[in-house]
Amino acid sequence: MYKVGLTGGIGCGKSTVSDLFKHYTIPVIDADEIAYALVVPGQPALKKIQTVFGAACINANGSLNRGLLRESIFQDTEKKQQLENIMHPLVYAEIDRQLNQLTSAYVIISVPLLLETRMQPLVDHILVIDCPMEMQVNRVKLRDNLSEEQITAIINSQVGRTERLIHADSVIHNTLDMSYLSEQVNTLHDQFLKQAQ
Ligand SMILES: Nc1ncnc2c1ncn2[C@@H]1O[C@H](COP(=O)(O)OP(=O)(O)OP(=O)(O)O)[C@@H](O)[C@H]1O
Ligand SMILES: [Mg+2]
Repeated sequence: MYKVGLTGGIGCGKSTVSDLFKHYTIPVIDADEIAYALVVPGQPALKKIQTVFGAACINANGSLNRGLLRESIFQDTEKKQQLENIMHPLVYAEIDRQLNQLTSAYVIISVPLLLETRMQPLVDHILVIDCPMEMQVNRVKLRDNLSEEQITAIINSQVGRTERLIHADSVIHNTLDMSYLSEQVNTLHDQFLKQAQ
């Protein structure tokens, strides 16, 4: 199966674009959704996180305190590495498991940190969703309860725009309205169907 890796910085529009591909009944494997599911109460990954980060990173109801976790990995690169060592192998194993269950001409695999985790070999084609940094900040500000400083810190922790574009086989420019986005997805859908043959 032809594997398209969809990536891009925070708030560039990966989830929005994934939804547009779903309209064509193309399956989307979403690394973010997988990572969320891996840390619900009762999951082994949550236990491991608690061991490394302490009981404070677990809320009273047993769920993960994501805000606290985000804060502690920003201040501590060793902790960040430890979290990645717990999560990344599990995320990629689950991506693989889902891939083995699919039958489709092509599949979209949405991996925000595809380049950061050096997992380019996982896919046949890298599709980058791109927009200027000011747009990322504005979109995330409207969506999440994060300050401009927090959003900028996340952007700065990710691969830079120029470097991401160097790795792109295709680019979706998410700089205008939804119809501009749909047009680009429509063109790429036709292209991927041909490339999948
Ligand atoms: N073309 C657009 N016009 C207006 N709003 C948009 C557009 N594209 C995305 N958005 C909005 O911007 C926000 C970020 O988009 P989205 O959630 O798709 O980004 P993302 O890349 O998946 O982000 P994350 O990295 O946090 O998962 C969302 O609230 C979305 O509805
Ligand atoms: Mg998203």
